[in-house]
Amino acid sequence: MEKLGEGCSAEVYKCEHSILKQMRAVKIMRAEDDEYTEIAKQEFALLRPLNHPNVVKVFDCIHDEQKRSLYLIMEFIQGQTLEDFVLKASSSNKPLPEDVILTILKQLLKAVAYLHENGVCHRDLKPDNIMINPKTHHIKLTDFNISRKFLDDKKNRKKMRTMTGLDMWSAPETRQGIEYNENVDLWGVGVICYYMVMMFPPFNDSDEMKLIDKVQKCEF
Ligand SMILES: Nc1ncnc2c1ncn2[C@@H]1O[C@H](COP(=O)(O)OP(=O)(O)OP(=O)(O)O)[C@@H](O)[C@H]1O
Ligand SMILES: [Mg+2]
Repeated sequence: MEKLGEGCSAEVYKCEHSILKQMRAVKIMRAEDDEYTEIAKQEFALLRPLNHPNVVKVFDCIHDEQKRSLYLIMEFIQGQTLEDFVLKASSSNKPLPEDVILTILKQLLKAVAYLHENGVCHRDLKPDNIMINPKTHHIKLTDFNISRKFLDDKKNRKKMRTMTGLDMWSAPETRQGIEYNENVDLWGVGVICYYMVMMFPPFNDSDEMKLIDKVQKCEF
């Protein structure tokens, strides 16, 4: 199996559906105890009802209790992460053309609008969680591991306070211990837009405390 990627909580492999002969991406997550299992199952529960051209599709979720693993079966997205796409342009000293940035931004905003209409806040928008086809520039949002349903079936709001994502890409209010709302995703879109234009992120510092301070003061 070809390894497609790896993050802090999972490994993703490319596989073929033995009957349909279609490619799939399988995200293998830890299910060592009830807490890990619930977190892993939540990604499936959030993604399953969603259907949008710019959001990764999920097909199934298999829990192997013996191996203490959970397998999330997703569509295989041809391409690379937006992070690799920008890094490649940056290393060859070629800024991304304005029309390409606009094409990506429009899709990103459509995906975020769709999520919010369906009561889902992504909470981890960053270039590494966006897949892009380098030829067509079609994008898909991935990695709903720390996403949250902020509206229940009766459209009642649920509170969000948990600190999520990396400091570099996350909205200041997620670091203030206060209740925040789905607008944190729009901060993510803004930061990603800056990253595509400048080819470096607006907020960066090797010292975590200084980085948090810069984000809080919006110093870039
Ligand atoms: N459906 C997919 N098709 C192709 N490649 C994928 C797909 N999903 C993920 N990948 C690749 O695998 C990498 C890791 O996936 P993902 O971001 O979902 O997991 P993660 O970062 O381990 O999760 P977490 O951030 O929750 O720890 C992605 O950056 C991407 O390169
Ligand atoms: Mg990720």
